[in-house]
Amino acid sequence: MRIDVLSVLPRMVEDAFREGVVGRAIEGGLLELKVWNLRDFAEGKYQQTDDAPFGGGAGMVMKPEPILKGVRAIREDADAEPLKVLLTPQGRLFDQAAAGRFSRASRLLLICGRYEGVDERVSELCVDEEVSIGDYVLSGGEIPAMAVIDAVGRLIPGVLGNDASAAQDSFTDGLLDHPHYTRPAEFEGIRAPDVLLSGDHEAVRLWRRRQALERTRERRKDLFDRAELSEEDLRLLESSRD
Ligand code: ADE
Repeated sequence: MRIDVLSVLPRMVEDAFREGVVGRAIEGGLLELKVWNLRDFAEGKYQQTDDAPFGGGAGMVMKPEPILKGVRAIREDADAEPLKVLLTPQGRLFDQAAAGRFSRASRLLLICGRYEGVDERVSELCVDEEVSIGDYVLSGGEIPAMAVIDAVGRLIPGVLGNDASAAQDSFTDGLLDHPHYTRPAEFEGIRAPDVLLSGDHEAVRLWRRRQALERTRERRKDLFDRAELSEEDLRLLESSRD
């Protein structure tokens, strides 16, 4: 898979993926990451990428021309047409389903906004989707782009050592993950649940599922209400009320 990023802070994004899971995927040739400096597409002596907002108000707005020029150059840099995504707090919330969808595209282009916003014509002319990583405002789209690259990168087949790990992640089935324990069996007076040490695989599976269901119901009612529950899930929840 190939991911392109268009940003005024290209080093910030490049440096983030020099190590870790995605860094290894890049080294191993499973992911090609190319970060482009928006300023290279800006004209004039000062290579200005932002300007004052029409209508007045605080802050600056990102100009449309450098972004359009950058997107055109990036599209022409490889054969496949990229899925073009603008990172903005006004976008649809990014979730595991979107990460899966993006990971199945052969090419993704992430456009990072900065300042108070991006000229709206950018969205009309060269963006397929607007995406937000959460209901808070960051100072730019770079950290959101990194979050998207990490979430998408680890879903590319072969990136995680064990292909089952991605399938077992939280959210893959719409629920939070169950608790995890490792050695020592007792730590600071707290014992790992006996069932996990029992060697009874079916009992472990049921315990984990019940924990995931209970946690999701308690912490994330929104996810719980949308989750598709099986007969077994309903039975586990029923017994957890006892
Ligand atoms: N840019 C600033 N804040 C953002 C957010 N929460 N998600 C995506 N892009 C952003």
